[in-house]
Amino acid sequence: MQITDIIRKKKNGGVLSAEEITFFVDGYTKGEIPDYQASALLMAIWFAGMNKEETSLLTMSYVHSGETIDLSDIPGIKVDKHSTGGVGDKVSLIVLPVVASLGIPVAKLSGRGLGHTGGTVDKLESIPGFCTEMDLDRFKNQVRTHGVAIAGQTGHLTPADKKIYALRDVTETVDSIPLIAASIMSKKLAAGSDAIVLDVKTGEGAFMKSLEESRALAQTMVDIGRHLGKRTVAVLTEMNEPLGREIGNANEVKEAISILRGEKIPGLYEVVVEISAYMAWLGGAAPTQETARPLVEKVLQEGSALKTLKRLIADQGGDANVVEDPDRLPQAANHREVCSDRAGFVQQIIATDIGYAAMHLGAGRQTKEDRLDYAAGIHLNHRVGDRVEKGDVLCTLWYNDADPQESEQLAKAAFVLGDEPAKEKGSILEVVGALS
Ligand code: URA
Repeated sequence: MQITDIIRKKKNGGVLSAEEITFFVDGYTKGEIPDYQASALLMAIWFAGMNKEETSLLTMSYVHSGETIDLSDIPGIKVDKHSTGGVGDKVSLIVLPVVASLGIPVAKLSGRGLGHTGGTVDKLESIPGFCTEMDLDRFKNQVRTHGVAIAGQTGHLTPADKKIYALRDVTETVDSIPLIAASIMSKKLAAGSDAIVLDVKTGEGAFMKSLEESRALAQTMVDIGRHLGKRTVAVLTEMNEPLGREIGNANEVKEAISILRGEKIPGLYEVVVEISAYMAWLGGAAPTQETARPLVEKVLQEGSALKTLKRLIADQGGDANVVEDPDRLPQAANHREVCSDRAGFVQQIIATDIGYAAMHLGAGRQTKEDRLDYAAGIHLNHRVGDRVEKGDVLCTLWYNDADPQESEQLAKAAFVLGDEPAKEKGSILEVVGALS
């Protein structure tokens, strides 16, 4: 088999066979196919797309490129969750203790942030002492005994995706629905859970800008999950403004604790309940998603999910007292208020710009090697729909060593004001795959 024949076939809109897909994935992962030929094939896929069968085959080739985790010896239906990434997305920090409190085992591998989006691992590591590196035996043991563990992604799982993702990143081939779907779903499948809930962020601050694109990605991922025997539901959620009031690592942990203490922060609360209720239903805690909702609300209001978070932090070496006293989390020495130049209604808060503003303060990485300042971040004093007067504080920047100038400009421009009240959109846009 020749890689040039495979490139030509896809370039001409052909359908690749299982052997051709495996030949490409294995050959590239082993270094037998050079970057320039892999790039050409990825670009051909970007233009010609892949059908359902090809996308599932690509996903499985990624899965088979490395180790997989076997969770079958842990009793119960294990449910995983994945977000396609946004700004202020601290949903995992909340829903994982929520569903674990309902008796559903959760074994979660999470990533780090890059560019304008954050990562769950970085947020958790802002808790003094919290460790996200652990071997598989310890990870599984913690899930078995305490119901939840969260670890950083290991290079042993889906190495093909890791290598191909890095190439896509520099060849403008990230934003292809079959390539994104195979990349995300391979990691979920390799991680071994029985069911998967996907939070597909939609809007300016997300990969998928329009509802149509989001729907197509969601359907593709649900089809892959189903095809490979995993119950999969995708919830399309709004990302035209950051989620919640806090952006940054320690700030987001604090906000997660507030929700787990029963606070109903607009936007964030609805997403947390929706995602948790789907996980609870798939995990067998309730016969339907609707009947799972009151169970979720109860563990939030009564504090049992907060206790689960506390135990999770202690299990992973962190300072569990942050749960009662969030001021033990890293605190920034300086702050600057960003004020409005005019009166009006907030129409939009451009999530990407807020994400970059937070990154320049030290909350995110420009390159993989950058060190984070866990205390840096942004507090949004207003949300879309609010009325503000000239001189009102729109948001507050928190930082230590950074120069806040660029962040201030970005954050101010991120607030789009108009004369009319903004239309209320709701945080949950659609659900794909919930009917079976
Ligand atoms: N996240 C992933 O893991 N892979 C993609 O291709 C895009 C987002």
